[in-house]
Amino acid sequence: MTQPHVIVLGNEKGGAGKSTLAIHIVTGLLHAGRSVAIIDLDLRQRSMQRFFQNRAAWLAANGHELPQPFVPDMGDGKALAKADAVDQIATFERAFEEAAAQGVDCILIDTPGGDTAVSNAAHARADQIVTPMNDSFVDFDLLGDVDPVTLELLKPSIYSESVWEARKQRAIAQGRHATIDWLVVTNRLAVAEARNRKRLEERMTKLAKRVGFRVGPGLRDRVIYRELFPFGLTVADLSNDIRPVAVSLAHVAARQEMRNLMMAMGLEQVLSPLDVAA
Ligand SMILES: Nc1ncnc2c1ncn2[C@@H]1O[C@H](COP(=O)(O)OP(=O)(O)OP(=O)(O)O)[C@@H](O)[C@H]1O
Ligand SMILES: [Mg+2]
Repeated sequence: MTQPHVIVLGNEKGGAGKSTLAIHIVTGLLHAGRSVAIIDLDLRQRSMQRFFQNRAAWLAANGHELPQPFVPDMGDGKALAKADAVDQIATFERAFEEAAAQGVDCILIDTPGGDTAVSNAAHARADQIVTPMNDSFVDFDLLGDVDPVTLELLKPSIYSESVWEARKQRAIAQGRHATIDWLVVTNRLAVAEARNRKRLEERMTKLAKRVGFRVGPGLRDRVIYRELFPFGLTVADLSNDIRPVAVSLAHVAARQEMRNLMMAMGLEQVLSPLDVAA
């Protein structure tokens, strides 16, 4: 049996868009015919898991069928959130093994904001880390320290160090040729901030070389990325049959953005372009 491709959504900053990207990548993969298992390590919020529960309920209520991921049992999330780190890691490892035993193509792990032991354990399992960051120096701070006066890049900072540590752990466990592909993408880009964005991009490119990540195509701020959440649907699911909201050019553009992101992740044959007609 081949090993599943392990994707971790990570960024210690809360609210950067990890869970949003997670549900879009999972639904995109499912529509590309891949089998996917999901592990939601945001034990308190469980946004990703809730999304797929919404999906099951919406599909049942509307008589539609769509692919679903495999969800290994991790028990009561709130109780687990209060458990100690050793128990949390043991539960995560069990869930991971259960997912791998299904023979799925991909395992996608959503992590909470903040530096937790279980999140670090997940990062050390990653083949690929996808980090969304908002288009601001506040978020950039987690990747690199910037001089407050000159805005020059001083050194990599906390989240970069966590990824560095994960890379080290992985090399120890699997040999020094085992690498983690790290893709950083800006999320919720605002058109009005063009100048700020340009400076940010320059710094990201510099830092990318120093700490070893790739800069991927970002996602704009769009209502469509959040409005389908209650239905358990994303822009990847929309078709002539499934369109709980009126489909517009913004949906077409959003699907194209997702397509670009997934191609940058190395996932070919991803989403077909969306047809607005009908
Ligand atoms: N590209 C986007 N366009 C519009 N809204 C977005 C976009 N990305 C994220 N959001 C919204 O921003 C909020 C935070 O996003 P999300 O929950 O995905 O972040 P997170 O990194 O998972 O947060 P946490 O660290 O709390 O788990 C949500 O309300 C989400 O709907
Ligand atoms: Mg989240």
